[in-house]
Amino acid sequence: MKSIAYRKPGQIEETRYEKIHNVVFDNDREGSLVVAREIADLIRNKAAKGEYAVLGLATGSSPIKVYDELVRMHREEGLSFANVVTFNLDEYYPMDPKDVHSYHYFMYQYLFKHVDIPPEHIHIPDGTVGMDEIQDYCRAYEEKIRSYGGLDFQLLGIGRSGHIGFNEPGSHINSRTRLITLSHITRVDAAPSFHGLNNVPRKAITMGISTIMEAKRIVLLAWSKKKSAIIRRTVEGEMTSDVPATYLQQHPNTTFVLDTEAASKLTRIDTPWIVRDVDWDDQMSKKAVVWLSKKTGLPILKLTDNQYNQNALSDLIARKGSAYDLNIEIFNKIQHTITGWPGGKPHADDTYRPERAFPYPKRVLVFSPHPDDDVISMGGTLDRLVEQGHEVHVAYQVAGYSAVSDEEALKYLEVNGFMGFTNDEVMQLLAELQQKNRPADSAALKKLKASIRRAEAVSALRYLGVDTKHIHFMDLPFYDAPEVHKRKISERDILITTDLIRLVRPHQIFAAGDLADPHGTHQLSFEILTQALQEVRNDPWSADLRVWLYRGAWDEYEIHEIDMAVPMSPDQVLKKRHAIFYHQSQKDLVMYKGDDMREFWVRAEERNKDLARQFNDLGLAEYEAMEAFKRYEF
Ligand code: F6R
Repeated sequence: MKSIAYRKPGQIEETRYEKIHNVVFDNDREGSLVVAREIADLIRNKAAKGEYAVLGLATGSSPIKVYDELVRMHREEGLSFANVVTFNLDEYYPMDPKDVHSYHYFMYQYLFKHVDIPPEHIHIPDGTVGMDEIQDYCRAYEEKIRSYGGLDFQLLGIGRSGHIGFNEPGSHINSRTRLITLSHITRVDAAPSFHGLNNVPRKAITMGISTIMEAKRIVLLAWSKKKSAIIRRTVEGEMTSDVPATYLQQHPNTTFVLDTEAASKLTRIDTPWIVRDVDWDDQMSKKAVVWLSKKTGLPILKLTDNQYNQNALSDLIARKGSAYDLNIEIFNKIQHTITGWPGGKPHADDTYRPERAFPYPKRVLVFSPHPDDDVISMGGTLDRLVEQGHEVHVAYQVAGYSAVSDEEALKYLEVNGFMGFTNDEVMQLLAELQQKNRPADSAALKKLKASIRRAEAVSALRYLGVDTKHIHFMDLPFYDAPEVHKRKISERDILITTDLIRLVRPHQIFAAGDLADPHGTHQLSFEILTQALQEVRNDPWSADLRVWLYRGAWDEYEIHEIDMAVPMSPDQVLKKRHAIFYHQSQKDLVMYKGDDMREFWVRAEERNKDLARQFNDLGLAEYEAMEAFKRYEF
């Protein structure tokens, strides 16, 4: 299939600076469906000619939805894999194929065990061959690929190091299948699924760059903001062995399939005025002015016509008259986003305030995916809402037991023991905790871990003065899927959410609008909320509802995206820190932090202080820290 098939009709993109063809989808699901369809077409076309379809496959989080869709097509549309031959890119070394961390396990779990591929057609590098046999083994792997006439299609992900397969920085363009030492950043990225960096293997067997480049067609997938920097470097930067993915610039039939977040740093998306005419709406003008201020290191009110003209923004100036007028307009707009009254200031003129003065007091419903996102992301704002007399409800969407360590659970069990509660359940749980490599926690252990998080959440909110009657534990069922990747939204998730919204009838909802948490819980929680909002949209009371989004612990909005910025004094920063401390099980050894090793309170504080600094650099008042929100129209 020609890569042009990915283009939407009539879509002409300005691709100056780009050295690799790429297409951007609204989300990973849409992109994955298109890629799965290309693979299915290839399989069917080859089958019609009586030929094999030879696929190079990847593991990791990126291709999962492509495999899901292929499995669906096999089940529902009769797509057969009888003529499919596969070669996987890589495997950790050393690695037992039965190990749940092995790429063998991964491939069977996500694809092979669900389709009719003949087992002898499956090839995955073997992580058990002896050191002295590896060279011969790798040569034979290459030979095997060649014996099938080479790869028709190679699916790739990309590491933050710029690796494809496990070809880490420094890999030569002529490299072939071989043993390689993994880079630190790659091991850090793999650490959460191995429960710690020390458990991640140091080596892997990988197809070489040259092996990959010989594929007739290559599609690389990249999702989420986490990949945006390496995508820009790969697509727009010079070809270099420091970023092995840049070798793909030389491949004649490669497409990068991206979601909007992964594409967000490409020039045509990040600073589109450099490559084309843009529609200068409010958002775009704000973005351009903030960008120019950062680029020149000058506050907004000091930017000159000359600086706009020299930085591809003459068109914007022409429309607005002069730098003077534009600067004042944007400065005021940003100024008006700042408020110490997140629930609106009663009896004050609210023409230029982000929230309405009335109704007052408001009923406020804060949705927090995990029990702690509320205080981490908006502890300062929560505090103000309570102090300013609003009726604040907090709803925890999932139970959060996955992030409670055994050590933490043991501590609470022992407290029970000291209190003399030696019933059978306690003894059983103690036995379970001693069993280190158990596949999953029992329902009773999950309940214990969830209770720990509940108790922490209640004490944090009590500290902030929230009425404990207004704390809601939703325990959304999607979270309880046996495996993380099997989590799916159901009617019940939406019903529970709709019921709660109807019970509270809020004037304001605050919710996590970020899509970047390592396990996708925030993403699913947000999807559930958006569907529930559609349900209540026609209720008459909902005309009075405004929805504000905050970002979770992983990210922050950019200035031009922010509709409400709530400043914090040094004392409020301390108070927020203490509220986060109540979530003790999430300190120190916490498991699902992603690649950022800082404690959550440090992350929150640094991010809030950094935001205040950014406002200050633009020439606005200097605050200690700030929390940010974006208005969501439903
Ligand atoms: C996996 C592989 C790697 C991954 C890359 C991205 O077989 O070879 O190159 O594609 O590390 O991993 P994810 O998709 O987990 O972000």
